[in-house]
Amino acid sequence: MEITVAKSAGFCFGVQRAVDSVYKELEENSGKIYTFGPIIHNEQVVEDLNKKGIEVIDTVEQLKEIKEGTVVIRSHGVAKEIYDVLEQQKLKMVDATCPFVKKIHNIVLDESNNGKTIIIIGNDNHPEVEGIKGWVNGEVIVINKEEQIEKLSLPEQTKACIVSQTTFNHNKFKYLVEIIRKKGYDITVVNTICNATHVRQVEAQKISSKVDGMIVIGGKNSSNTQKLYDICRNECENTFYVQTVKDLNLHELKSLKSIGITAGASTPKNIIEEVRTECQK
Ligand code: F3S
Repeated sequence: MEITVAKSAGFCFGVQRAVDSVYKELEENSGKIYTFGPIIHNEQVVEDLNKKGIEVIDTVEQLKEIKEGTVVIRSHGVAKEIYDVLEQQKLKMVDATCPFVKKIHNIVLDESNNGKTIIIIGNDNHPEVEGIKGWVNGEVIVINKEEQIEKLSLPEQTKACIVSQTTFNHNKFKYLVEIIRKKGYDITVVNTICNATHVRQVEAQKISSKVDGMIVIGGKNSSNTQKLYDICRNECENTFYVQTVKDLNLHELKSLKSIGITAGASTPKNIIEEVRTECQK
């Protein structure tokens, strides 16, 4: 069986940086360490950190209960309110917000301060979008499908700034922006889709169009993995979504002559390696 592993599979720069900062804190810091939300969408990594004493907190209320320790902000970033509470509580903060996400926070803050309505193309309940919304001073709308644009009725002279969730699909973003444009608002578009995602998606599409079977590895809550899966499934009927090597169905793979492997941004290298080794057996 011929196996092709995508070069862009696995941790992106921002996730690697966030994970590294937690392990660095573990080494250098003897006090209690928290992460605001799971550091990445990967159960194995989160479990490992949990065994090492790292606690995940999810809410402002929980944060307000903490009297001492270090809080690591993950690559998704958080709302401004979280920074304010950290300061009030005088907690040490390690900010591992991905610089590409931080850039979006700065854009929406500036543009909303200039009176613009902010339109985020992304998934409303995703933590990254939650964080971005928390930097807007004024009106913010989250859109991820055409029907929502049809219902959109902003005043005629509205000035809006459109940004995107970093992991949003490139083509869908362009498509949705064009539909918004037809509404005649005065819009500024900043394509904030991260290049790492785009490169990973393009490579996955290319590989999946040539192989008999495609394996997409990633956490079940990872939206970028779900998108990778959709792209591959479009090209290759035999596309399998697995979290770890345990989910592999070797029986299904046996008849295939060539297999491609890609993985979402939160998948550690060792998991990709395990899957590849198992396929080779
Ligand atoms: Fe950052 Fe892009 Fe990764 S925004 S967290 S490098 S997917």
